[in-house]
Amino acid sequence: MTTPRPETLAKLTPVLTKRWLSPDAWRIGTYEQLDGYAALRKALKAHPDDLIQLIKDSGLRGRGGAGFPTGLKWGFIPQGDGKPHYLVVNADEGEPGTCKDLPLMTHDPHALVEGVIIASYAIRANRAYIYIRGEAVHAARRLRSAVQEAYDKGYLGRNILRTGYDLELVVHSGAGAYICGEETALLDSLEGFRGQPRLRPPFPATHGLYASPTVVNNVGTIASVPPIVLGGADWWKSMGTEKSSGPMIYSLSGRVANPGQYECSMGVTLRELLELAGGMQPGHNLRFWTPGGSSTPLLAAEHLDVPLDFEGVAAAGSILGTTATQIFSDQDCPVYATYRWLEFYHHESCGKCTPCREGNYWMVRVYRRILAGQGTHEDLDTLLDTCDNILGRSFCGLGDGATSSVTSSLKYFKQDYLDYIEGRTAPKLSEKTLVGAH
Ligand SMILES: Cc1cc2nc3c(=O)[nH]c(=O)nc-3n(C[C@H](O)[C@H](O)[C@H](O)COP(=O)(O)O)c2cc1C
Ligand code: SF4
Repeated sequence: MTTPRPETLAKLTPVLTKRWLSPDAWRIGTYEQLDGYAALRKALKAHPDDLIQLIKDSGLRGRGGAGFPTGLKWGFIPQGDGKPHYLVVNADEGEPGTCKDLPLMTHDPHALVEGVIIASYAIRANRAYIYIRGEAVHAARRLRSAVQEAYDKGYLGRNILRTGYDLELVVHSGAGAYICGEETALLDSLEGFRGQPRLRPPFPATHGLYASPTVVNNVGTIASVPPIVLGGADWWKSMGTEKSSGPMIYSLSGRVANPGQYECSMGVTLRELLELAGGMQPGHNLRFWTPGGSSTPLLAAEHLDVPLDFEGVAAAGSILGTTATQIFSDQDCPVYATYRWLEFYHHESCGKCTPCREGNYWMVRVYRRILAGQGTHEDLDTLLDTCDNILGRSFCGLGDGATSSVTSSLKYFKQDYLDYIEGRTAPKLSEKTLVGAH
């Protein structure tokens, strides 16, 4: 294991993670001792429009994967329309490899609760929801207890801190479907329907929850709001890059010595993150990795110095996504890894549109054939052709994301596919998995 050099350690910028290691960090007492709810007091003295402007000025971009500018999204909510407005926090965190929202809610739930109150005040919402993944029982328990503590202290409910502002906050557990992280499927699920994406336009900003103006934001996005209110837009922009401002929680998993969450200014590189994480596991050399979860195109060892911000990763041909860096070594097989991800997308496809429902089904079968040593050269063309018919033709991002590892692994690791097809690599799957595959 390597020890990080002081200049690399200085890359850590703990803002959202700064309280995580404090004793009882999840209790309101600890939170209040460490600046907690000071931002709320400051925010409630400001005009809601000024808060929206502050978030615009900070350059904060959504932490849920797409990186949409948060202040702009809040500004889309029509004001004076006489309709109820809603804030919905997307705490579904289903993207394989992603592990930043659940630890945040487990260790520092009040950071999210405080952000929810400020954001709701800014968009003039009197009701907010946190939609949390059903399996995340421990995080949901912590969150519910934090919400209760906030009610007891007068930070939630009627006439918050005697300002006349009212807000009810509900924590809703989903049933554990990846598609319910897609914001419109999430809204359907929250309304009690089967979670499937909605046709857009109209967008949630005007026709969201119960057909009313709604902001849907990721946990990390909303938890960034209190520090911005306290520290100001310039302080936030002093971290990160010009177009990707602020710190980001990068979650490292796989063949790395110390997997976990590393919060750094955006633009840090994988080389630096690996150094912070103690390097690769002994005996392993980096071969491929995802910069932002399994829906983002794979990168290879040659991309170690790509700046991990929205623009840097895009320029390298991938997507920053959820900053879930999954690290694979020379002992891992990119064909098999891609197959396992495809199994996931096939299983999680909601079935609403044909390209994703049928395309993922067929691609899984082709992969099984290749991995069982019965693939053909034509199979590689079939895979690329199928991806071509899914990407940009699916109803939502799940279909597009499913193609990422297929096309990128074929781009960087075609030889691995050929080694299975031409018999140089021993089959990884038995022929039993091939029922009906031909
Ligand atoms: C299949 C799919 C799954 C998604 N899962 C999540 C998720 O678990 N959490 C999340 O915040 N965003 C997820 N998103 C993105 C959301 O649709 C949406 O862009 C995000 O919640 C907006 O918040 P932000 O602007 O704060 O990033 C997913 C998108 C797709 C297509
Ligand atoms: S792309 Fe997949 S998940 Fe999205 S609507 Fe179509 S079938 Fe459902």
